[in-house]
Amino acid sequence: ETSHVSAVLDELCATVEDYPSEGIVFKDLTPVFADGPAFKTMVDAIANAFEGSFDAVAGIEARGFLLAAAAAYATGTGVITIRKAGKLPREVFAESYALEYGEATLELHKEDVPAGTRVLILDDVLATGGTIGAAAALLERSGAVVAGVGVVLEIEGLPGRSNLADYEVVSLQKV
Ligand code: PRP
Repeated sequence: ETSHVSAVLDELCATVEDYPSEGIVFKDLTPVFADGPAFKTMVDAIANAFEGSFDAVAGIEARGFLLAAAAAYATGTGVITIRKAGKLPREVFAESYALEYGEATLELHKEDVPAGTRVLILDDVLATGGTIGAAAALLERSGAVVAGVGVVLEIEGLPGRSNLADYEVVSLQKV
């Protein structure tokens, strides 16, 4: 099962050199999302790793939404939207985190997550862990419990996993 999902990712994940800037090797998962059986394999592998341990799935805008919606639907749980600043209309919690240059802010509606909800956080890629760290902080401010963190790709040589040491982190493939 693990080797099957790895093979699917090896076959379909596209590698783009020097994007978005010189020296960066970008991993593009859009061909995996576009392939029905591959998409199902990928989503099921993440959801199955946390089977029975979550009540809702949080996705981080934008690519995390695709995974979270599919995993939530497949498991009959709710999907929670963690968005970039300025997109949510009601009262929000906000968390800023460092980017390579500058910072970004994620927001979560204060009333979207009942206290005590066990939430699985999904995103496409774990790099520095700044994005998922901010998402986890937002959920905890809501009184939710982070049930785990699932990503498709984990970039090796960056402190993502150590920055998320408080959580169980599952990645489908290290790159
Ligand atoms: C990318 C990726 C993760 C994040 C990982 O998002 O989708 O969310 O970077 O990086 P980190 O671990 O160093 O925080 P991006 O900000 O490019 O957003 P997008 O999904 O809207 O393109």
